Amino acid sequence: MPPEPTPQPRDLTDLHCHLLPGVDDGALDAGDSAAMATRAVREGITAICATPHIRHDHDVRIGEIAGRVAALGEELERRGIALRVLPGGEVAETIVDDLGDDELRAVSLGSGHWILLEPRPGPLSDSIEAAVERLERRGFRALIAHPERHLAADLFDRLARLTERGALIQATAAFFEGGPVADGMLALASRGLVHVLGSDAHSSHGGRPVALGGALRALSAVERVAPHLDWIAREAPRAIVSGGVPQPPFAAG
Ligand SMILES: [Fe+2]
Repeated sequence: MPPEPTPQPRDLTDLHCHLLPGVDDGALDAGDSAAMATRAVREGITAICATPHIRHDHDVRIGEIAGRVAALGEELERRGIALRVLPGGEVAETIVDDLGDDELRAVSLGSGHWILLEPRPGPLSDSIEAAVERLERRGFRALIAHPERHLAADLFDRLARLTERGALIQATAAFFEGGPVADGMLALASRGLVHVLGSDAHSSHGGRPVALGGALRALSAVERVAPHLDWIAREAPRAIVSGGVPQPPFAAG
């Protein structure tokens, strides 16, 4: 049977992007945000979760996120850039237990109940599983960010255990397109441990672009996920930002 064609990069949702101007180490100002948004639209992205760092070393006021997201949405509309900006946050494992339920809701992706969770530095340990479990008890699901930072011998087993607890894994799109961790990212995907993508873009002036299409092309060569690119690219992200619970159509592990 011929392989399914790679989905056209259109109507995509970027679940991880430092798009809000002047709040963390992301967009510098409204012009930078607008340039990132323009690039996103060119890449077929129609919605972005703005995910500022919620971490001890970034002074992001959680109570201001909703207003900042709305203001940026209005600014993009004024500029004629057709991109939906949704609330979110990249929540560090080291701070997540300090946040109240209202704060967690304010930084959840699309104001749903998925938390983009940044594991603490170093190899994954039991602590991330405990954090995911505590989140679940509070009614939230974890979307694990930056698996590429933890490429240790037990990474696959650890991520698979997290998925058994209801977590999903978000991978940084640019890392599939080359560089030192590309093979590791493809290996993760071949074990069913990549569920959704994010650009993790920080600026239009440098670094990773707001783009997901290259990663989707790379994933089209991975047997386990190739038939499910539409789920990865569109169905799962849409469910996540609506507070739904997407069921992966491929096994993990
Ligand atoms: Fe990030």
